[in-house]
Amino acid sequence: MCGIVGAIARRNVAKILLEGLSRLEYRGYDSSGVAINNLDGVSSHRAVGKVQALRDKFTAEPLDGKIGIAHTRWATHGKPTEANAHPHFSGEDLALVHNGIIENHEPLRRELKAKGYEFKSETDTEVIVHLIHDALKTEPDLLKAVQNVLTKLHGAFAIGVVKNDENGRFIAARKGSPLVVGVGIEENFIASDQLALLHVTDQFIFLEEGDVVELTRDQVTIFDEKGEVQERPISVFNHNVDATDKGEFRHYMMKEIYEQSSVISACLEGRISETKVLTSCFGAESEFLKDIENVHIVACGTSYHAGMVAKYWIEDLAGIPCSVEVASEYRYRKVAVPKKTLFLTLSQSGETADTLAALRMAKELGYLTTLAICNVPSSTLVRESALTLLTNAGPEIGVASTKAFTTQLTALLITSVAIAVENGLSAEKEQELVQAMRSLPAYINDALAQDAHIKVIADRFANKHNALFLGRGTMFPIALEGSLKLKEISYIHAEAYPAGELKHGPLALVDEDMPIIALVPHNDMLDKLKSNLQEVAARGGELYVFADKETDLHNEDNIVFTEVPKVDRILEPIVHTIPLQLLSYHVAVVKGTDVDQPRNLAKSVTVE
Ligand code: AGP
Repeated sequence: MCGIVGAIARRNVAKILLEGLSRLEYRGYDSSGVAINNLDGVSSHRAVGKVQALRDKFTAEPLDGKIGIAHTRWATHGKPTEANAHPHFSGEDLALVHNGIIENHEPLRRELKAKGYEFKSETDTEVIVHLIHDALKTEPDLLKAVQNVLTKLHGAFAIGVVKNDENGRFIAARKGSPLVVGVGIEENFIASDQLALLHVTDQFIFLEEGDVVELTRDQVTIFDEKGEVQERPISVFNHNVDATDKGEFRHYMMKEIYEQSSVISACLEGRISETKVLTSCFGAESEFLKDIENVHIVACGTSYHAGMVAKYWIEDLAGIPCSVEVASEYRYRKVAVPKKTLFLTLSQSGETADTLAALRMAKELGYLTTLAICNVPSSTLVRESALTLLTNAGPEIGVASTKAFTTQLTALLITSVAIAVENGLSAEKEQELVQAMRSLPAYINDALAQDAHIKVIADRFANKHNALFLGRGTMFPIALEGSLKLKEISYIHAEAYPAGELKHGPLALVDEDMPIIALVPHNDMLDKLKSNLQEVAARGGELYVFADKETDLHNEDNIVFTEVPKVDRILEPIVHTIPLQLLSYHVAVVKGTDVDQPRNLAKSVTVE
C-alpha cells in the first residue's frame, strides 16, 4: 500500500504531484508528503492525515520546481506521524519515497548507525535513503549508487529518488511493489498506479520486477536487474477518465454499487452467445479447459468470498473437486497438487502481495496452468499469469469492494460453465445458464430498487455493536461478504455463519440487541433455513430477512422483510449481494464514518 508519484517536466510539478496523490489516496491516507528539487535545493512539505492537509501546507507556503516525488502513506513501520511521513531525507539534498516493506531494515539500520547516520523516523524506508547517501561516497553517479543499494534490500519496494545536484533527472525502481512510468511530451512521470497520472498522460510503461529507471524530461531509460538497458512497450490507457469521478453520487462506493448492472454487462460482453459460453474469452489456449480435473482457487478478502461461491458452482455444475484458500495461508504451507489442477487467482487490483506470492509459488508446483480473474489489465497478476479473464468493472475507487466482487462472480460463473461443458454439462443446461446470465443486469437493477427501503432500515443499526449474518449454500459466502462490508465501513463487529451452524455455538449470542441478517432465497434449502430462523426468533433476536416473495416471508413482529428479486438459483449469490452492499453503505452514512476511505485500510494491499 502507500502510493508514490514522481515527475520531471518543464513546468512546475507541484500541482501534478498533489493531484496524483489525491488519486492515490485509496492506497493509504495516514500521511502524505512531497519533495521538490529546484535550483535552491530539495524542499519538502509533509502532513499527517489526508492529502488535503498537504494541500493546505502548499497553499500557505507554495513550493516550486520541475522535478519532484510524492507519497501517500499507509503506516506499516511507525505511527502516522509527520516524522514518519515520506519523503525521507539523508542530509539536505537527497530525498526518497518508498512503497513496500524492507524486511532486513533492522541489520541495515544497525550498520548505518555504526557509520554515524542518525535516524529521524521509525520507518523501514529511512534505511534506503541513508544507504544511497553512503553509496554515493564511493559511487558518485546517482543511478549506479541506487543500483548498488537495491542489491542489499530484502523485501518489496517501489521507490523514487531525487538529489539536489541532479537537476536533469530522477531515479525510480521497483521490485515486488507496483510502479508505472507515464510518458509525456517533454515530461515524464512515475506512479504506483496509472490512475494517478491520467490528468497528464495516457501512455504508460509497466516496469518489470527489478527494473531501475532513469527519467529525464526527454527520455526514459530502463535497466533490468542485471543493469542492462531494456526497451519496454508503451501501452495506451483505454478507460474513460470520468470513471474516477463521483458524478452525482455522494461517495464512490454508492456510484460503484449503482454501476453494477452496466459493468456486469461489460463483463458478459463477448463471453457468451445466445446459447453458449464463448471459450475464446480465455485466449487462444482455451484447450486447457478440457484437461482440468481439479481447481485450486486462491485469493484474499472479498475476492476470496467470490472464490467460495465458485466452489459451489464448479463442484455442482462440473462435478470436479475445487478448493478455495486465502492466499496468506496458501503461500506458507506445503500444498499437495493433484494432477491436472487449474490454479485460479482472483483479485480486483492484481497487486495484492499475498496473491502474487501464491501465484509465484504455484508456478513451481506443477499446476496445469494459471488463470487470473482480475479487474486491472495492466496489473502484475495479469502479466504473470498464463491466462486471464478480465472482469471489466472499470476503476473501483471505494476501498470497500462492490462492483469488483459482482463482476468477479460473473466471470467465475462464465468459467464454471466453461469447465462444466468439458465435463458433460448438456447443451440444454448450458443454454439455460447462459440465458440466466443474460438477465443478470436487469435483476441487478431490480435489486437496487430496494435502496430507499434499505436506507430506512439502516437507521436501526446505528447504535448496534454487533451483527450476525446467516446463509446456506452459496448464500454463506455472501453472508461472509455482507459481514465484511458492514465491519469495513461502519466499524460494527459482524460475523457470518452457515445457518445450520447456529445451534453449534453462535446461538448463545442471540438476544434482543443482536440484529440477525438472514439471506433466504426460495430454493431447496428454504425449509431448513426457516427452521434456523425460528431458533433465532424463539430467543428474541431481531431478524432482518432478505428474501424473494415466493418464500412467503413478510414483515412480522420480529421480522423486518426486504424483498430481493426471485432469480434462477445460479444467480442468487450475485443478486443477494446488492441489498447487503446498500445496507452497509447506509449504516456507514448514518454513523458518519468515512465511507470511501475507512480507517486503517487501503484499497490495494501490496504488503504482506
Ligand atoms: C474488500 O472490500 C476489501 N477492501 C479487501 O478485502 C480486498 O478484497 C482484498 O484486499 C483483496 O484485494 P484484491 O481483490 O485487489 O486482491
